[in-house]
Amino acid sequence: MLDTIATRPPDPLLKIIKMFRDDPRDDKIDLGVGVYRDERGETPIMAAVKEAERRLLTAQTTKAYVGQQGDVEFLRLFGEVAFGELARELASIQSVGGTGALRLGCDLVRAAGGKRVLLPAPSWPNHPAVIAAAGLERVDVPFFDVATQRIELDSLLGGMARLKPGDAVILQAVCHNPLGADFSPEQWDVLADAVIEHRLIAFLDLAYQGFGDGIDEDVAGARRMLARAPNVIVAMSGAKSFGLYRERVGACFVKAAPSARAAVQSNLFAIARANYSMPADHGAACVREVLSDGGLRASWRAELDHIRAHIRDTRAALAAERVNSIPMHLIAGQKGMFSTLPLSEAQIVRLREEHGIYMTDAARINVAGLRRADIPRFVEALRAVA
Ligand code: LMR
Repeated sequence: MLDTIATRPPDPLLKIIKMFRDDPRDDKIDLGVGVYRDERGETPIMAAVKEAERRLLTAQTTKAYVGQQGDVEFLRLFGEVAFGELARELASIQSVGGTGALRLGCDLVRAAGGKRVLLPAPSWPNHPAVIAAAGLERVDVPFFDVATQRIELDSLLGGMARLKPGDAVILQAVCHNPLGADFSPEQWDVLADAVIEHRLIAFLDLAYQGFGDGIDEDVAGARRMLARAPNVIVAMSGAKSFGLYRERVGACFVKAAPSARAAVQSNLFAIARANYSMPADHGAACVREVLSDGGLRASWRAELDHIRAHIRDTRAALAAERVNSIPMHLIAGQKGMFSTLPLSEAQIVRLREEHGIYMTDAARINVAGLRRADIPRFVEALRAVA
């Protein structure tokens, strides 16, 4: 009965938002949830997106359903930005953010007979919940040493070798959340070899295109995998790349044999229909407007370049600092919003309670949310606890 339902623990990430909000200190620093912030501490609406919204408001004449697949032109353009020509060969469906795409993909793995999903650990704190909700078994395989900040590829390859054909392996395409440590092109090739050899589904999580080295550079690994592996699922988010966090922009793209594409597409339709029926329009329509207009597209690219440069500067500034037991210098070479520091739970609690500095329970910091002006105080607090 509903009256006896057990309370569940709060989401590990979203609870940090609440703790931060409830902290009355003026000089608190939020390095929790992954949003980009400028030097004023704001997460602005991108100028191209704002203009797209204006145009949509004027031009839109109906609120009738968009359709089962979602906004088809959005899917074409969004897929092309990520995968170029390869996008034409993919089944696709608009999703409710990147998380929705992950869930669709997990449900598709299950519908196709897959039982297990390998999760290279550590990973995004919500991955385990999505995998479990889809009724799949999660196989955690450590692939990164936080103390030395190095990828341990052999451990991951060993885990992949223990899966069964039809199982999936989640690989973050770029700007790893929570590590900021990405696979090299050579490592992508080795991973593709393993996916092919063990007949696995490569399940790519692509949420930060443009936040690493560049819009095209950031998808080189994903394209390598797509070009070679026969079965690939991509969960793609537009939240960060277009600053459309709350609009829940995303898509699920799937590569299967041409003869199976219609069947895959029908499964995506059926899975979505039984969940949320059809996706929301607005965020995807904004992305469609931006990508289909040369001027807006150029403006978007320039703003994304600016965000990337800002994150890189913050990384360089952090890397120039020395803190006892933390290899700060490695932060410069990492990509995207996040890095994970080798801090104990007690140190994380002290940072929060004594210094008003908030990060996840696994010491993930949102570098993209750190203002330059806050760096001295952040580093001083790290020195005090480390
Ligand atoms: C994050 O990891 O902070 C973001 O992806 C937000 C979220 O939904 O967890």
